[in-house]
Amino acid sequence: MCGIVGYTGVQGASPILLEGLKKLEYRGYDSAGIALVNDGTISIAKVTGRIANLCEKTNDGKDYPGTTGIGHTRWATHGAPSDTNAHPHMSNDGRFAIVHNGIIENYMSLHDELTAKGYHFESETDTEVIVHLLEMYYKGDIRKAVIKTSARLQGSYALGVICADDPDKLYVAREASPLILGVGVGENFFASDVTALVSYTRNAIYLEDGEFAEISPEEIKVFDVALQPVNKKISRIVWDIQAAEKGGYEHFMLKEIMEQPRAFKATIAPRIKEGEIVLDETDLSKEYLESVNKIVITACGSAYYAGCAAKYTIEKLCRVPVITELASELRYADPLIDEHTLLIVLSQSGETADTIAAMKECKSRGAKTIAIVNVVGSTIAKLADHALYTWAGPEIAVATTKGYTTQLAVLYLFSLYTAKKIGSISDEEFNRLLTALKALPKKIQETIDTNSKIHQLAIKYYDNKSMFFIGRNTDYAIALEGALKMKEISYIHAESYAAGELKHGTIALIEEHRPVVALCYNEKIMEKTLSNIVEVKARGADVLALTYKGNHQIVSVANDVIYVPKVDTLFSAAVEIIPLQMLAYYVAKLNECDIDKPKNLAKSVTVE
Ligand code: F6R
Repeated sequence: MCGIVGYTGVQGASPILLEGLKKLEYRGYDSAGIALVNDGTISIAKVTGRIANLCEKTNDGKDYPGTTGIGHTRWATHGAPSDTNAHPHMSNDGRFAIVHNGIIENYMSLHDELTAKGYHFESETDTEVIVHLLEMYYKGDIRKAVIKTSARLQGSYALGVICADDPDKLYVAREASPLILGVGVGENFFASDVTALVSYTRNAIYLEDGEFAEISPEEIKVFDVALQPVNKKISRIVWDIQAAEKGGYEHFMLKEIMEQPRAFKATIAPRIKEGEIVLDETDLSKEYLESVNKIVITACGSAYYAGCAAKYTIEKLCRVPVITELASELRYADPLIDEHTLLIVLSQSGETADTIAAMKECKSRGAKTIAIVNVVGSTIAKLADHALYTWAGPEIAVATTKGYTTQLAVLYLFSLYTAKKIGSISDEEFNRLLTALKALPKKIQETIDTNSKIHQLAIKYYDNKSMFFIGRNTDYAIALEGALKMKEISYIHAESYAAGELKHGTIALIEEHRPVVALCYNEKIMEKTLSNIVEVKARGADVLALTYKGNHQIVSVANDVIYVPKVDTLFSAAVEIIPLQMLAYYVAKLNECDIDKPKNLAKSVTVE
């Protein structure tokens, strides 16, 4: 949940660290710091708040000279956001400074042990035990000290270390937290993700759990726990700098909303060849798919809601039961999973701790796992039997938009692919739906283009403490995601409800002018949702309905109507969600919220 970065080379390290931290700020932003080795001593600058404060404190890094350093942007877990709890943390003898992303689960016992040995703690963090362990184990060999220290840690960590005795080197270690090494010429880097590296290098080494690296300006040496050298492949980073910048938009979220037609197309187009769906990354044979008696989809947050929406598509087309389960629940549920279960894991970041744990649990029970992931080389992608990437490009705004729609894209591909393989749909139906799927990027674009009035609707509805989102079946699944978008960026209480369930309790909360966003896309159950709209209207609600173009039935019952293009109901989530993302965006903007970095949240939730 934090971002870490490191540099060693010939340039001043501070400005590079600060730039890297700005790119990583979405991972956590309650405090930040840098540490530099210069003239055989370590100097540290730390502040509460954003990287901008750190830039101010360090005079954009100019006041902190040195060509080797580490940086950190924090999302607090142990200890409140404060200057003292901010990283880097320094050893008592001033020899080591470290940055850490992850959680040290056994820090209490280590804290007691180190305190008994005379080490003095400055902060309330779990991280600080690491730097004191380093000091304790250091007998002139830093590699050994790092390895001995790591062996004492339980939990997750991506660790960056500098030592005053070895002023040109960085030491890193990884266990269950993302860490990427950037390979330059006469300079090298490490970071929590590639966004912090792409301005400097496109060559990367993905460190595995249990590996360590010693990084100097000239070379990167990777070792295993036994200090044996490990040969690592250098991978090419394909994301470009433009993609990781705002490109003229006021917020990353708006830019990412606008990118959805392109991202959806980039995800489906390479997998449709000569009228067939090709999922080269998997080995889903007809025999295997026929042996599957249950599909379980697991994920967290929006990724989970993408699974909820696609459940209807998969079940309708493949006639296989699909169970959607929150990863944080599934991991402790003693799930009924065996080798006839296909597990689909959804994750934009590929690093979500609960999702990883649920996946491991299901794998251990024999399930085959497919991961639908955006970040190449991420933990979930590597753990899965097969990874199907969503080619959305870097998603920076904390609230996901293109991550969600591209997850839908892969799930739609998967549904059609499986249905065709097992013969649960006719060739004619397959061809019709494939044509509909290929048309979706254009329909998403049309949805964006024709919804300029969303801003006007936001002006009408933004000043509210509470809202409801209702719908049935897929519309309900989309309501869940629409409400989450509203909550997380505008801080308005937004409750999503299955429309037919309102009268079993929730309708008591409907009062004069309470906004109710009603999703009415599915023609087959239109009449049913319309009656629910009438019920809430009768209790004074202001209804903002969302439906397909040409459905005029709704005008007489709703206060306002958002129209989106008509697509097959099996794929409607991909267009219906767009105006809801835009509504949340404009409502948050009118409420002057920090849209890209909502309070209390972080982009990548690498802790339980
Ligand atoms: C909401 C949002 C989160 C994520 C969730 C899972 O806008 O972004 O709910 O969907 O934290 O994250 P990933 O997809 O990275 O596993």
